[in-house]
Amino acid sequence: MSLLKLVGVSKIYQLDGVSVKAVEKASLEIKKGEFVAIMGPSGSGKSTLMHLAGCLDTPSSGKVYLKGKNISNLNEAELARIRNKEIGFVFQSFNLIPRIKAIDNVSLPLIYAGVNYENRIKRAIRALEKVGLKERIQHLPNQLSGGEQQRVAIARALINHPEIIFADEPTGNLDTKSGDQVMKILKDLNQKGHTIILVTHEQEIADFAQRTIKIRDGKIE
Ligand SMILES: Nc1ncnc2c1ncn2[C@@H]1O[C@H](COP(=O)(O)OP(=O)(O)OP(=O)(O)O)[C@@H](O)[C@H]1O
Ligand SMILES: [Mg+2]
Repeated sequence: MSLLKLVGVSKIYQLDGVSVKAVEKASLEIKKGEFVAIMGPSGSGKSTLMHLAGCLDTPSSGKVYLKGKNISNLNEAELARIRNKEIGFVFQSFNLIPRIKAIDNVSLPLIYAGVNYENRIKRAIRALEKVGLKERIQHLPNQLSGGEQQRVAIARALINHPEIIFADEPTGNLDTKSGDQVMKILKDLNQKGHTIILVTHEQEIADFAQRTIKIRDGKIE
């Protein structure tokens, strides 16, 4: 059985009477343990596709199945519950909460998962150690380099042991060295069994994946 399956999925945005077909009749299947890159020009629908596959948004038409369960018509609360349990996200702009420390950013998803304080702290420290940031747990995001901030974001994405990790241009704001570190962590996670779905513009980054899905004007090629 596929871990993730999209069947004829479209997403149409309505804005001021104009409709934008961001994704059009996309079908794809991703198996457990795969490392897949999604490539395409700017505006081709990569992020939209990722949001649909990652329970951040629902399609205008078509069906999305996660572990065989149709998630296309779930409400926001139901989607949030699935995300918290099954999915980790890493974004180009890190999306950390600026006023709280690295450790608190990482442990935040555990509050929603109902984990007690002591265990939250323990698990957050372990997750930060895994991404090589043991010495930075008390730092605020603006006291960290871009590469370090992205590793905090990866630690946060990992905290609930999600089966799937979505990364939308995770190296887009990083220098080559920090980008390499981030890609090595993602590769390592894949070898440990996590399914990785990575959006990128760069061929060198896509080369880390076993397979590339190309999208153009909202359509999968
Ligand atoms: N909330 C929205 N409302 C209206 N249109 C949107 C919305 N989000 C995205 N779009 C449009 O949908 C299309 C696909 O956007 P998307 O963000 O998925 O592209 P992308 O491939 O991720 O681009 P990039 O590489 O620049 O990040 C674009 O034309 C965009 O303008
Ligand atoms: Mg995008």
